[in-house]
Amino acid sequence: MSQTTIGVIGGGQLARMMYAPATKLGIELHLLAEGPDVGAARIFKHVTVGDYTDQATVRAFAADCQIITFDHEHVPTWILRDLVHDGKLVRPGPGALQHAQDKLLMRRRLTDSLDAPAPKWRACADADELAAFGAEIGFPIIAKASRGGYDGHGVWKLDSPSDTGIPFAEALAESAGEKVEIIGEEFIDFVRELSVIVVRSPSGQAVAYPVSETIQREGVCRETITPAPGLSEDQATQITKLGLDIADELQVTGVLAVELMQRADGSVVVNELAMRPHNTGHWTIDGAHTSQFENHLRAVLDLPLGDPRMRDRWCVMVNVLGGTNEDLPSELLHCFARDPRLRVEFYGKQIRPGRKVGHVNCYGDDLDQVRARAKHAAHYLMGDIRKG
Ligand SMILES: Nc1ncnc2c1ncn2[C@@H]1O[C@H](COP(=O)(O)OP(=O)(O)OP(=O)(O)O)[C@@H](O)[C@H]1O
Ligand SMILES: [Mg+2]
Repeated sequence: MSQTTIGVIGGGQLARMMYAPATKLGIELHLLAEGPDVGAARIFKHVTVGDYTDQATVRAFAADCQIITFDHEHVPTWILRDLVHDGKLVRPGPGALQHAQDKLLMRRRLTDSLDAPAPKWRACADADELAAFGAEIGFPIIAKASRGGYDGHGVWKLDSPSDTGIPFAEALAESAGEKVEIIGEEFIDFVRELSVIVVRSPSGQAVAYPVSETIQREGVCRETITPAPGLSEDQATQITKLGLDIADELQVTGVLAVELMQRADGSVVVNELAMRPHNTGHWTIDGAHTSQFENHLRAVLDLPLGDPRMRDRWCVMVNVLGGTNEDLPSELLHCFARDPRLRVEFYGKQIRPGRKVGHVNCYGDDLDQVRARAKHAAHYLMGDIRKG
């Protein structure tokens, strides 16, 4: 049995998917979960249920762990700084993680230190400043809450100066009265969204997975295609280098996902960063030699990182969203009978319409076939395809 215990804060599917590689490596994972029934709490052996915004709770949880890592970015930075002060290894550390927590900080840092490609942006204190920004660059514009956004919440498309009060009012309402900074951003008329996943260890080794095309609907990731079709070698190299440069600049430990938007002329801009295994990296479980979850753990443990290359030419992931099927495993007979190479993962979450409850992965030589297989399986599992 390993002497090292890693504490994972947050009990969603990302923590849950760390469990299998941790088991294989003989590493003990402890969980700080939001509730007893969340996806990861159903499978971890050591579970503490508690509030990750409460310092005493986090400290007590961390007492038995040598290393702390995350399923989400929402633990307050000051609590993490105190943990570091207590001598805990927090990976990624608060100095890096705050760039995934705060979009304004991220924009400032990537612009100032790396001159990374970004939409035109400005921190705006009120509706008038946002309107002035829009007048300067032209409407529509995007407004974003610097903190607390997820699945498209906290992102607004504004068509005219009369809309510029909306983000301030809504952000204030969502944050229970706490002041949230608003960023004005140029509206990027992108042709598609991309993602690059890189993993960096404390000693500085880093690996990058092939760039993925990601398809979002209503703010939720629905599908990824890897490698992103039609991406030139130069573009792929440029995006990969950007991901590695950001990981190095911010001294990230573990997975860094860089979400990008690509314009019709092929150019890309950074949308946002995540520092934990990412939905756009779930294809790696079946489609790469080493999954993002294993590489995240290896990085957190400062072990040499595993090969990020693909096992096959194409890999498509499609998310399974909650639909009319209550009992997902009962639908596997059809899916597996039809496609022996289909890979399925369920997150152990309660089915609610539109909620991510699992994903499927398919890989192979022919992209059209791989996509069709993955979509059929996901739609069948969601109950979108009538039986009979
Ligand atoms: N400047 C922009 N121009 C056009 N579209 C944008 C812009 N910024 C964001 N978007 C769109 O809004 C989506 C959500 O934005 P973003 O990723 O910043 O929000 P989020 O709620 O934090 O998302 P996530 O669920 O990934 O955490 C993006 O995936 C993209 O489709
Ligand atoms: Mg996003």
